[in-house]
Amino acid sequence: MLAKRPPMGWNTWNTFGDAVNEEVILENVDAFVKLGLREAGYEYIVIDDCWSKKQRDPETGKIVPNPEKFPHGMKYVSDYVHSKGLKFGMYSCAGTRTCDDYPGSFDHEFLDAKTFAEYGCDFLKYDFCYMPDTANGPLMYRRMGMALKASGREILFSACNWGSDEVHKWIRSTGAHMYRSTGDIHDNFESMKKIALSQENLLGYSAPGCFNDTDMLTVGMFGKGHVGIGGCTEADYRTQFGLWCMFSAPLMLGCDIRTLTPEMLALVTNKNLIRINQDEEARPPIESHTGWDNSDKRVYFKHLSDGEFAIGFFNLTERDQPVQTNLTNLGLSASSGMALELTDVMTDEAFGKFDEYINIHIPAHDCRIFLAKLVEA
Ligand code: GAL
Repeated sequence: MLAKRPPMGWNTWNTFGDAVNEEVILENVDAFVKLGLREAGYEYIVIDDCWSKKQRDPETGKIVPNPEKFPHGMKYVSDYVHSKGLKFGMYSCAGTRTCDDYPGSFDHEFLDAKTFAEYGCDFLKYDFCYMPDTANGPLMYRRMGMALKASGREILFSACNWGSDEVHKWIRSTGAHMYRSTGDIHDNFESMKKIALSQENLLGYSAPGCFNDTDMLTVGMFGKGHVGIGGCTEADYRTQFGLWCMFSAPLMLGCDIRTLTPEMLALVTNKNLIRINQDEEARPPIESHTGWDNSDKRVYFKHLSDGEFAIGFFNLTERDQPVQTNLTNLGLSASSGMALELTDVMTDEAFGKFDEYINIHIPAHDCRIFLAKLVEA
């Protein structure tokens, strides 16, 4: 089964945009392996938009890699990725052109899926620009879903229609394994926060086999690269990564892996956070913040498959302040005689035992995330 757990990997778009080419991909793959991202669970190396020539081959009708960007062709890149024990992903679009104006797959779905399979492709991101007025969005995803099944290769189908047509209601039926549910992320706190909060009530639709994709991470970009508009602090990135983990969202890194700092590497490879993200039941969290100021403070509580829990306290406001929850909101009644014992995911240190409420002071934009166990009060 594909996408049994939220897919993990790296995508070229956030940092490289149109400046994607063989050299930067191979260098990023090397850095990826050297830094241990593969061992941490990251798997897919995905080439986003802008990899092809501006027009299809007039004779074969096929999309052709741009020879200046990819002098050895796509199979070469795919073989390199596979030789490192990783999986290879490509990008196309349901409309006539891609979002950055390269050939789209509209009316060429089966040919393109076969071409991608010939490259040794394991993952296809499928965008939504240049849709003809007469085209039906859900049908276009069904069509590529079929074309991938007919391609002769097992290919993870990553739909990207930005949440249009209430995508969460029908996307699983097309065979897709993940679905972008929002517009594009930019590397700043407001963009990330808007995306996360827009999905908090839709996470019940995300489940093994097909996950709500809140977009590629900007963790580690620090304002550099294609979507590096504004930039984030380390606290912002802790919050972004923490939210994506609590949401069971795909973890697709988008920074330049060659320049990942030790702190950000430690964050994206944190074994507790990855365990929370990759939990096989992928349950949506309960939102349970209680306080006099409910603006943009969140407590997310998530049941894990092994009987433990994850609980995250997020201060999405602009000032340092307490974030609190009343444990009755999580189902823990006062008469139960039970308490939650917390361990900090960042330090593995015990944080204490709580049987009534939890109140933690958290700096603006930051978060605290814990694993929790039920114990006698
Ligand atoms: C957008 C998509 C981005 C990126 C871009 C490429 O529609 O949401 O993630 O793929 O197109 O042009």
